[in-house]
Amino acid sequence: MKKFKNASKILIIGFMLVLLAACLGREELTVNDPAPLTDLSPDEYLNSAFKDAFPIHYESYLRNMGNGLPPVSKFIPEYEPYLPILFAGFPFEQEYNTTRGHTYAVEDVLNIARISDRSIGSCMTCKSTIVTPLLKELGDDYWAANFRGELLPLLEEMAAVGGLEELGEYGHVSIGCSDCHNPVTMELRITRPSLTNALARQGVDVTEATRNEMRTYVCAQCHVEYYFEPDLKKVRFPWDYGTKPEEMFEYFQTTALEEGFEYDYLHAVSGAPIIKAQHPEYELWSYGSHGRAGVSCSDCHMPFERRDDRRKISSHYWVSPMETIEQSCRTCHSDKTERYIIERVGEIQERHLDAVHEAQDLTVEAHYFVNRMITAGVPQNQINLAQAFVRESQWYTDIIAAENSDGFHNPQGSMDTLRMASDAANNAIKLATEELSKLNVDLDELRSEIIKVKEAVLNEEDPFLKHTHATNSFFPSQK
Ligand code: HEC
Ligand code: HEC
Ligand code: HEC
Ligand code: HEC
Repeated sequence: MKKFKNASKILIIGFMLVLLAACLGREELTVNDPAPLTDLSPDEYLNSAFKDAFPIHYESYLRNMGNGLPPVSKFIPEYEPYLPILFAGFPFEQEYNTTRGHTYAVEDVLNIARISDRSIGSCMTCKSTIVTPLLKELGDDYWAANFRGELLPLLEEMAAVGGLEELGEYGHVSIGCSDCHNPVTMELRITRPSLTNALARQGVDVTEATRNEMRTYVCAQCHVEYYFEPDLKKVRFPWDYGTKPEEMFEYFQTTALEEGFEYDYLHAVSGAPIIKAQHPEYELWSYGSHGRAGVSCSDCHMPFERRDDRRKISSHYWVSPMETIEQSCRTCHSDKTERYIIERVGEIQERHLDAVHEAQDLTVEAHYFVNRMITAGVPQNQINLAQAFVRESQWYTDIIAAENSDGFHNPQGSMDTLRMASDAANNAIKLATEELSKLNVDLDELRSEIIKVKEAVLNEEDPFLKHTHATNSFFPSQK
């Protein structure tokens, strides 16, 4: 009898433990739970509005404020010192910085020297949650609206909420919850029509996307190459022939040209018609080994994060996964030590940066050789040919240099592209050398003038003034 009593006690205690475990389990907020319903408006765009319903996500999101340091210039010798030459004649020559957290996107776009009185609404597209309500209100007039004159007043009005200071002046409307989530169901959603349209032209229906695909598509709304359509200035992704740099280049050489988009700027040194490349994280990922294996952006960049000892959420602190190797990488690569992973990534990035610098050096040289062709009076058809090589070389260099993982997302693809950049630059230099030799131009002098101009850019301490040394009396501006 006694025995039985004890056994039933154990059973009861055991049952309670199971219940308790089940309760604790339910506290785990994992992504496998059905999407929660909120009482927010379907048009909610303020990040602060999500704070009460999702305090731990909001707290994770707040970490994007980081240490609050200002952005760092990419022009310093440790990064890419010759960018002011590569962008000569285009607003990027003035200021180009490394990335900061999502909560700073609005502040940074408002302060960057590149934004001028002629900048347009499209520049806001990858920065703010107000884009969705604005597109609803303005329709296609949004894209070409004047950035300072028309959008800024709307932004100030929509961002004006008192009380919560933790996100800084514009953090309430910087990249946030409603960009990736339906505010009512919290399901992942695509808010930028440019992605929906680009995928549709590839025959992909985004409404059919799996959850795993959505874990990448939400990022692909912004971390992509794009250009502005000539008529409406609408943001478009050049993916009709694929997402490899050579496939996007083919698009720019055919479809985009036919529709009236020739270039972003004429280069001040070479006069070449240049396409400015932007952050193609999604594109490089898409044909790298992780993209091919279906490893999503969020797998590495939004790993599970434990909050106290019970709750587990997807991290909303978007930074280098090297800060969370255990959760970001060793979930799959458990056979590798953390140290091995750090070294392997370091090797990939070091090799990559060497190759980027090499391609940038060659492209810079090509620009100046073409400048000399112009000043020496080489026949125009040869100049045009050389400028076409420079356009190609600059595209392949820039599309890889602008990719933010320093080669990690696709080490092989990046190397292949940089080789195309160097080939095209060498073609320009070879053609220029032949033509200049015919005219007995002093090539030694040309080479030493190139060294001088590069040194002047390198030695200028003020990043905002570096571009002023890209042209001079020997290499006059072709603008
Ligand atoms: C850049 C896109 C993006 C932004 C911005 C974003 N989220 Fe998420 N969120 C995700 C992704 C991706 C997941 C994982 C969803 C999945 O796997 O189904 C997620 C998951 C969630 C979940 C489900 C539980 C979990 O942890 O997986 C909640 C709740 C959530 N986010 C709240 C928020 C809140 C609140 C904000 C704003 C402060 C926000 N999110 C901003 C992309 C985003
Ligand atoms: C609405 C556009 C948008 C979306 C959506 C978006 N990003 Fe970003 N992301 C940006 C911009 C813009 C920056 C640079 C902000 C700055 O420097 O002010 C950035 C910066 C970053 C950074 C660098 C942060 C740092 O501290 O340097 C990482 C990492 C990142 N994003 C990853 C992601 C991932 C992963 C996703 C998808 C889950 C995503 N982003 C979705 C626009 C976006
Ligand atoms: C297999 C893991 C993995 C996947 C998948 C992945 N990334 Fe990354 N990402 C990394 C690593 C590693 C770095 C380099 C971080 C460093 O240099 O410290 C990085 C760097 C970045 C950066 C620059 C961060 C910074 O601090 O400047 C951005 C932005 C970014 N990734 C966005 C994306 C987007 C968008 C996707 C999906 C299209 C994606 N990543 C897919 C691992 C990944
Ligand atoms: C969801 C699983 C998954 C995650 C998470 C993941 N990987 Fe991988 N990784 C893979 C797969 C699958 C491959 C491809 C293996 C193959 O092709 O043989 C791979 C390949 C690699 C390779 C060699 C291929 C190449 O790109 O050159 C490296 C290096 C690597 N991963 C590093 C990392 C790092 C660093 C992280 C974290 C930032 C990470 N991985 C996160 C699954 C993952």
